[in-house]
Amino acid sequence: MIVDVHLRPEELDEKLREDARRGLTSAPKYLSPTWLYDAQGSALFEEITRLPEYYPTRTEFALLQQRAADFAEAARPEMLVELGSGSSEKTHVLLDALESHLHTYVPQDVSEPALRSAVARLSVEYPNLTVHGVVGDFTDSLARLPSGGKRAIAFLGGTIGNLVPSERAEFLAGTAGILRTGEWLLLGAGLVTDLDALLAAYDDAAGVTAEFDKNVLRVLNDRLDADFDPDRFVHRAVWDAENEWIEMRLEATEAMVVRIPGLDLDITFDEGEQIRTEISAKFRLSGLAQELEDAGFSVRHEWVDPAGRFVLLGASRR
Ligand code: AVJ
Repeated sequence: MIVDVHLRPEELDEKLREDARRGLTSAPKYLSPTWLYDAQGSALFEEITRLPEYYPTRTEFALLQQRAADFAEAARPEMLVELGSGSSEKTHVLLDALESHLHTYVPQDVSEPALRSAVARLSVEYPNLTVHGVVGDFTDSLARLPSGGKRAIAFLGGTIGNLVPSERAEFLAGTAGILRTGEWLLLGAGLVTDLDALLAAYDDAAGVTAEFDKNVLRVLNDRLDADFDPDRFVHRAVWDAENEWIEMRLEATEAMVVRIPGLDLDITFDEGEQIRTEISAKFRLSGLAQELEDAGFSVRHEWVDPAGRFVLLGASRR
């Protein structure tokens, strides 16, 4: 079992401090969605994926079950790199479909404990496969991924929606930049769909998404010694119609000052003031395909679910 660490805990800590300082002293306030995923946040996200309202995970899973063999046939990779691999079941569907040509699986994730346990488990489950984990941020890791054999990159779950358009262009160009002609990208992305379904998916009745969102305040309390009171914030899911993305926001229920000793900083909130904690962009097929073409890919397959809410897109490097 091999695990390369591109991002050491100290570097991750430094990134958190920089991001929190910049985002919380900006107007409006924001935080990177990266910090939602400590152990507790990752567990809450897993819980979200099982909610009746949160359709992306199960929709993508069904598409993968139907289309993984087609992707395998077209791409025939020997090495599969999965960016932001997390811990979920979808990896099995992919690995089972790709098994005949594949010799190496490279899961990449920002969470070192989650990655190590996934690598250990998969090494046992797939004894014929070299499992080579990479700890890092999906944008920074690209240039340092292992190479050898024909590669494919999978970036699933709709996480591409967490990037704003300029970051997306950079990320897609970076992805194209490390692939050779004829190597493939498998991308999962949420599509623009009816507003009720979107809003419910990001503000469920059981309040799990609200807990997931507020957990980022606990992360700041744990890691920066801050004194956020999560009970004095409410979760909001807002559709930005112009940008076509969902924003998760935390709204202060009253005016307050929050101390962040780890940053030597006091942050003032007005009543009703919000922190944006995530954007989750939804796409139009034509727009997404154009972005991939612009980055150097030829879009070869667009597999969409019957309700038109999610696309699994197969593209080859030109
Ligand atoms: C893991 C980034 C794909 O944007 O839908 C779930 C995270 N946020 N509920 C998404 C999330 C609120 C999720 N991604």
